Amino acid sequence: MKTLIAPSILSVDFNNLQQSIDIVNRSEADWLHLDVMDGVFVPNLSFGFPVIDSVAKTTQKPMDAHLMVIEPDKYIDRLRKLGVSRVTVHYEACPHLHRTVQAIKKAGMKAGVSLNPHTPVALLEEIINDLDLVLIMSVNPGYGGQSFIENSCPKIEKLRQLIDTKKASALIQVDGGVNFETGRRLIDSGANVLVAGSFVFSAKDPIDTINKLKKL
Ligand code: DX5
Ligand code: ZN
Repeated sequence: MKTLIAPSILSVDFNNLQQSIDIVNRSEADWLHLDVMDGVFVPNLSFGFPVIDSVAKTTQKPMDAHLMVIEPDKYIDRLRKLGVSRVTVHYEACPHLHRTVQAIKKAGMKAGVSLNPHTPVALLEEIINDLDLVLIMSVNPGYGGQSFIENSCPKIEKLRQLIDTKKASALIQVDGGVNFETGRRLIDSGANVLVAGSFVFSAKDPIDTINKLKKL
């Protein structure tokens, strides 16, 4: 399949948020990645419902919410009402992951599970067939602009094997430190969806950068 690109607005100038949404709209991006942080699961705060509500009004791309929060179940209903298409929760934040995944799907959205860099893919063995997406963190979640963790490539190969063995259909998404060079290697390892934040929005021509990532 063709690689999907999901630009993250985490590192944009929120004073000019509309400008960044326009960039993504005018590009060949597939999804718009929204990084929600609660200052508890990760050591940083980002944004929540008021910002997502604003974004929803003008984005032409499906919204892909990455919840770096504890107790994500509390937010599923409101995310659906705001028109979010996909919700990804963290394995490490969900003691009742099966219940959380079913709740997302019951609300009519696609369900993803994210793994921190130290969390083995084998832990998904019993739930992989329920998932629409697995998000491999290639940095420790919490901040944009960090450098890529090399172990992410072999980890994606292991996940690809698990998905094939189980005849599952989950997409493999990767998030953190994505650029042309790491992006190419991630695709070779089996990734389907690349999230990119600072690489896109610090580029001279963000639209061209998104379109080039798509062609890797
Ligand atoms: C990190 C976020 C990422 C972040 C990626 O916690 O989940 O989506 O925006 O940023 P870059 O692409 O700058 O590593
Ligand atoms: Zn993210």
